[in-house]
Amino acid sequence: MKIGVFDSGIGGKAVAEELRRLLPHAEILFVSDHGHVPYGGRPRYEIIQLTKAAIQPLLAAACDVIVIACNTATTNVIQVLRAEYRQQKFIGLEPMVKPAAAETKTGKIAVLATPATLQSPRYQQLKDEWAHYVTVFEPDCSIWAGLIENGRSDEIPIKETVAPLLANGVDVIVLGCTHYHWIKELVQKVAGPSVTILEPTNAIRNRIVDITTDYPSAALLQ
Ligand code: DGL
Repeated sequence: MKIGVFDSGIGGKAVAEELRRLLPHAEILFVSDHGHVPYGGRPRYEIIQLTKAAIQPLLAAACDVIVIACNTATTNVIQVLRAEYRQQKFIGLEPMVKPAAAETKTGKIAVLATPATLQSPRYQQLKDEWAHYVTVFEPDCSIWAGLIENGRSDEIPIKETVAPLLANGVDVIVLGCTHYHWIKELVQKVAGPSVTILEPTNAIRNRIVDITTDYPSAALLQ
């Protein structure tokens, strides 16, 4: 089985590496758009144009499924891709609002994501549908993806961002941008063991197994 993985930058690489580990028999192709990352501060029309251009090699490679390993592209573009490339299966990654709302005991969750994700109608819809009864904090993380992309994670104000969330009683933090997967442990360390940090790689692996029905899961997972 051939799985394409796309992200604007190195966030998707974390997802691709994890999928390689979880699905050792699959062929995993990863493409990114190093020339235009970060996408998160761009208007929707640009994110659409850039994503469509960047995934062309994956479409040409006839992947069984293409994982849009970018919350920013998923929340802004995936409907356009599904409408335009009808024969292609796509799996998107979007902030795990539903599991976070189900898991919180304090009724307070935080979503760390790019401005374009937080401003998208799809994200608003997720909150309206699943999180209308919890308080959702959305701290400013607008510089995070660029810093991580450029190997400057140590400049990210993690403590300054997470401490006010803890003070407000947040007990679940959603990593709503795949770039942040690289700093998951740092966020967990600052947040402490009583806070749950959610990111979707395992769920994506299960979804791949579900939708690629031509391949018996045993063959993929051995
Ligand atoms: N890794 C991406 C995401 O999941 C995008 C980061 C960016 O390009 O701003 O949102």
